[in-house]
Amino acid sequence: MARYFQKKQCRICGNTRLVSVLDLGRQSPANNFLKKSEMNRKKPRFPLAVQFCENCSLLSLCHVVDPEILFVGYQYLTGASAPLVAHFVEEAKMIARKFIRDKSNLVVEFGSNDGTLLAELKDYCRVLGVDPARNVAARAKKRGVPTILAFFGERTAKHIQARHGHARVIVANNVFAHIDALHDVMRGIRTLLREDGVFISESHWVGNLIGEGGFDQIYHEHLSYYSLHALRTLAGVHGLIITDAELLPIHGASLRVTMRRAGTAGASVRQLLLHEEKIGLTRLATFERFAKRASANKAELRELFRELKRKQKTIAGYGAPAKGNTLLNYCGFGRRALAFITDTTPSKQGLLAPGTHIPIVPPAILKTELPDYLLLLAWNYADAILEKEKALRAKGVKFIIPVPRVRIV
Ligand code: TYD
Repeated sequence: MARYFQKKQCRICGNTRLVSVLDLGRQSPANNFLKKSEMNRKKPRFPLAVQFCENCSLLSLCHVVDPEILFVGYQYLTGASAPLVAHFVEEAKMIARKFIRDKSNLVVEFGSNDGTLLAELKDYCRVLGVDPARNVAARAKKRGVPTILAFFGERTAKHIQARHGHARVIVANNVFAHIDALHDVMRGIRTLLREDGVFISESHWVGNLIGEGGFDQIYHEHLSYYSLHALRTLAGVHGLIITDAELLPIHGASLRVTMRRAGTAGASVRQLLLHEEKIGLTRLATFERFAKRASANKAELRELFRELKRKQKTIAGYGAPAKGNTLLNYCGFGRRALAFITDTTPSKQGLLAPGTHIPIVPPAILKTELPDYLLLLAWNYADAILEKEKALRAKGVKFIIPVPRVRIV
């Protein structure tokens, strides 16, 4: 594969008349933090823009970056986030209770990461993870979760089926958004799923992105932004039925769907479809409004920074999530705008933020170098962080919450 290509057809329904809605400029991949020694080496930037399919309602990136660039050497660990671990432990319990009949049942998870979910299930049944990232798969294996190092698709599914038999349950959490060849994955699911099996998938819900979420959740790893409408079309193409759907308070709001070979759409599906129509997830105008808001958001932040700099105020970043890099690059904020960004993740400390080259430092720096303002890039944890940093605020430090609306607290 070339390093990236333009996606001219909807990856669900094949529609070629996709409408561009928001252009965030050329950006470095949001998780490609770099070493100081790499600073002068030219780092690739790829276009970052989204388009809407008026046929099946899928919002997706206009370009696909080679997954080898994005996912091999992947740093993200599910086990590093306490709320996520609790969520997947709950999900494992639900799967065991509802679907596992005996120890011979097989549960396959693709995008299984460090095995957080499967580790909870391995005493109840056979489990198998599938993940292409060597470093995270190694962690899963260490905790006793057998893991195949691969991208999931029809070929991998046939291989698993031949060796381990059909799966009672297939799980895909927070991975569907990363996949370009969705139909190959769906064929894999059909190949591997038992007649009475279930496929359970969770993805960030596009209704949250355009509502309480922010445009900064758009980055190269996230190729698709799903609604239930779009997933229903996808399931239909492969003769599967979404029998249940629910919104969960994870990453703002995540959409969990259960697909089966046979059955009917339950009340939860019908209700959520109606809700999506009501809030406009099937209409282009809704996404055009979202794009306008993103651009107004950028203008407002830039104006605020100009004003603060004029008053000679100092500003630093708080938290270095991937989304922060979308925001900084879109707003054109570099080292002159932010002196540094603090982050609690040891593997990010000492590195530079992709694109902007702002240094990432341990939070302890705030004991000696206190800025007047902290731009809260990890805004999804605003409540917890504001509570944790009461002492800083008592010293007069103000937090700027950048999205979905600029707020100073
Ligand atoms: P996360 O929300 O997991 O983000 P993404 O998937 O967008 O990369 O990342 C949150 C980041 O913020 C992570 O690097 C840790 C950092 N962080 C802090 O530095 N301090 C905090 O108190 C919290 C909650 C997070």
